[in-house]
Amino acid sequence: MPNRISRVTRSKESARASYNRMSRFYDLLAGGSERKFIEIGLKKLAVREGEKVIEIGFGTGHALVSLAQAVGEKGKVYGIDISDEMVRLSHERLRKSGLAERVHLKRGDAAKLPLDSESFDAVFMAFTLELFDTPEIPIVLSECRRVLKKDGRICVVAISKKGKDNLMMRLYEWAHKRFSVYVDCRPIFARQTIEDAGFQILDCEIMTMWDLPVEILLGANQ
Ligand SMILES: C[S@@+](CC[C@H](N)C(=O)[O-])C[C@H]1O[C@@H](n2cnc3c(N)ncnc32)[C@H](O)[C@@H]1O
Repeated sequence: MPNRISRVTRSKESARASYNRMSRFYDLLAGGSERKFIEIGLKKLAVREGEKVIEIGFGTGHALVSLAQAVGEKGKVYGIDISDEMVRLSHERLRKSGLAERVHLKRGDAAKLPLDSESFDAVFMAFTLELFDTPEIPIVLSECRRVLKKDGRICVVAISKKGKDNLMMRLYEWAHKRFSVYVDCRPIFARQTIEDAGFQILDCEIMTMWDLPVEILLGANQ
């Protein structure tokens, strides 16, 4: 159906198993195409020295390295990811970068953040909000609001639906339905969803990847 977002039917265990399998090839499969959007998102989030930041769905950990550099010695970065292998690979990357002490990684589900309320300055989430089933997206965003301090920032990078679906959008959604284990991301109404969750949008840049819109959104916890 046009202008509705597809549902996500696979279980969390299946997501965990699939990202464990994909982890070693993830940078080859997606790294190149997604990296520039992540860099733009990190710039918009503009993490400062001494801040406490969390990344949700950190994958192979490239953004964690940038965040750990940005917070400096006095800051702290947390990360949560459902995949054991992503946690292991990211630990390894941080260790090699000499930044492991500033970062605390946890394997878990972002729909239930095991973190204190109002304790973070910023949240970063790239190509991950699209993986949650439709009723769960507001739950994840409300968890983000809960752990953020008042006026804390969130940056979400997401494949989005904008206007009329083009051929690529229809193909992508077909692939998502047909091969949901591998094509698990599906386009969402990112801006609307983030506004509905109660964030004030401070900045929104729309770009394209494989002819699909990618929104890079910066919001503030009001
Ligand atoms: C598409 S990848 C994006 C990785 C990284 N943010 C990037 O852009 O390179 C999505 C990541 O979210 C993680 N993930 C999937 N479901 C999750 C959940 N329920 N809670 C936390 N992380 C999840 C996956 O293991 C994977 O590392």
